[in-house]
Amino acid sequence: MEFSNFRVKSKSPSTTMQKLKWSRKKVPFFTLLVLVLLILLAFSTFHSEHSIIQFHENPHHVLNPQQASPIYVKPNLSGPDVLDRFSRCNKTIEYSGRKVASSGSGSQHSGHRRESSERCDVFSGKWVFDNASYPLYNESNCPYMSDQLACHKHGRSDLGYQHWRWQPHNCNLKRWNVKEMWEKLRNKRLMFVGDSLNRGQWISMVCLLQSVIPADKRSMSPNAPLTIFRAEEYNATVEFLWAPLLVESNSDDPVNHRLDERIIRPDSVLKHASKWEHADILVFNTYLWWRQGPVKLLWSSEENGACEELDGQEAMELAMGAWADWVSSKVDPLKKRVFFVTMSPTHLWSREWKPGSEGNCYGEKSPIDIEGYWGGGSDLPTMRSVEKILSSLNSKVYVLNITQLSEYRKDGHPSIFRKFWEPLRPEQLSNPPSYSDCIHWCLPGVPDVWNELLFHFL
Ligand SMILES: *[C@@H]1O[C@H](CO)[C@@H](O)[C@H](O)[C@H]1NC(C)=O
Ligand SMILES: *[C@@H]1O[C@H](CO)[C@@H](O)[C@H](O)[C@H]1NC(C)=O
Ligand SMILES: *[C@@H]1O[C@H](CO)[C@@H](O)[C@H](O)[C@H]1NC(C)=O
Ligand SMILES: *[C@@H]1O[C@H](CO)[C@@H](O)[C@H](O)[C@H]1NC(C)=O
Ligand SMILES: *[C@@H]1O[C@H](CO)[C@@H](O)[C@H](O)[C@H]1NC(C)=O
Ligand SMILES: *[C@@H]1O[C@H](CO)[C@@H](O)[C@H](O)[C@H]1NC(C)=O
Repeated sequence: MEFSNFRVKSKSPSTTMQKLKWSRKKVPFFTLLVLVLLILLAFSTFHSEHSIIQFHENPHHVLNPQQASPIYVKPNLSGPDVLDRFSRCNKTIEYSGRKVASSGSGSQHSGHRRESSERCDVFSGKWVFDNASYPLYNESNCPYMSDQLACHKHGRSDLGYQHWRWQPHNCNLKRWNVKEMWEKLRNKRLMFVGDSLNRGQWISMVCLLQSVIPADKRSMSPNAPLTIFRAEEYNATVEFLWAPLLVESNSDDPVNHRLDERIIRPDSVLKHASKWEHADILVFNTYLWWRQGPVKLLWSSEENGACEELDGQEAMELAMGAWADWVSSKVDPLKKRVFFVTMSPTHLWSREWKPGSEGNCYGEKSPIDIEGYWGGGSDLPTMRSVEKILSSLNSKVYVLNITQLSEYRKDGHPSIFRKFWEPLRPEQLSNPPSYSDCIHWCLPGVPDVWNELLFHFL
């Protein structure tokens, strides 16, 4: 079924180029040798390799271009047990059916799902063109803008995508108010945890918030697995933790992760939890990284490096189970707010909204106006299982159900208007849809509304 066929044939050995870029600085000779070997390997196999189109990124360039050379900070977690991009399975066996052991202590199945303060589903509504109040900030005025998301800067001239307001059917969203948001954040840590879509939402939040803080009273830490925006006068931080699979994995390095083989430790959520556990407001996501083929499981108790293999969705369920167990036993809802952001839709096949056509999001300038439109990139079985896991957590997690509203926004992706980390080849340039990014979102744009929803519930 085409629904599950999310992957697009990659025609370029781009990950390797990225590694090469990273390696220009002082990298030991041995590492260079390994990289060269990897490049050769990639060149010899890239025709058969599948990877999500433009899914990789180079967060080196995410931050302020004025920070001449962002320092890359290696995660301080070395040790024989830690997974990284060089991790391999000694052998792979069939999945044993093993589950993540629940810590038990906190599993409360009492209580009711938190009632929304209003009897209105803010996630059900429509997009309204509103160039009087949108965008909420200026692309060029945000020094923390990412070159991956700054579409206007990279040549997009139709700016309609910046001017849409989300209008729920039966009520209004609380109006964004930057001062009020800062008051909510006073003396607090707000942390986004997840993949590049979540990073986009974090950048959106930083851009929404930064304008009212004088330049000498705010700072951004160097790019690292945990990147921190600080505002002195509020004693508050807005942070992003790279953890695309939530549990420990071989993709935990934000720059040098492997794309071809996923290995996770389904029973180790702790490695990341140690970084997020002290945040006051947590915003998690995870989805797309589970959709690139089978995932290998390396259980912590497995001493000989033998992995089990599982399809992406089942592996995601295991990982979310481990995460839910952490939430259930560690989160006191009176002290900590936890949000989960549902799947971010992609617009890879224009035939889904324009039957008979063969493109993707390239050239799209306006939202889809078919009420309830649902594209093939948003996997319903995944949504069901996420719903099941979240409902077992009762009031401890708020769902930011952004899937449906973002589904309408085929016009919101960068397509060709972003920085591409690898040089584009002539045959790509002559066929723009072939290298269009229909996964991430331009800023200002759709993720700003996700943050307005967060503000609404905070
Ligand atoms: C980083 O690792 C070194 C050596 O293992 C250790 O001494 C140091 O305390 C660690 N720093 C942090 C912040 O964990
Ligand atoms: C807003 O959009 C309307 C309708 O497209 C247009 O007439 C008007 O000039 C726009 N206003 C601004 C400030 O761009
Ligand atoms: C964005 O910047 C332009 C040019 O600097 C300015 O004219 C416009 O008012 C700004 N818009 C906002 C929302 O700050
Ligand atoms: C600043 O915020 C932290 C929590 O993020 C808190 O522990 C600390 O007491 C705050 N400092 C002041 C001076 O309020
Ligand atoms: C793989 O197996 C060998 C031999 O059994 C062992 O020495 C090695 O430590 C194993 N690798 C891992 C990652 O466990
Ligand atoms: C999100 O909303 C969709 C309808 O748009 C619904 O089918 C789905 O179950 C919801 N997901 C969660 C986790 O609540």
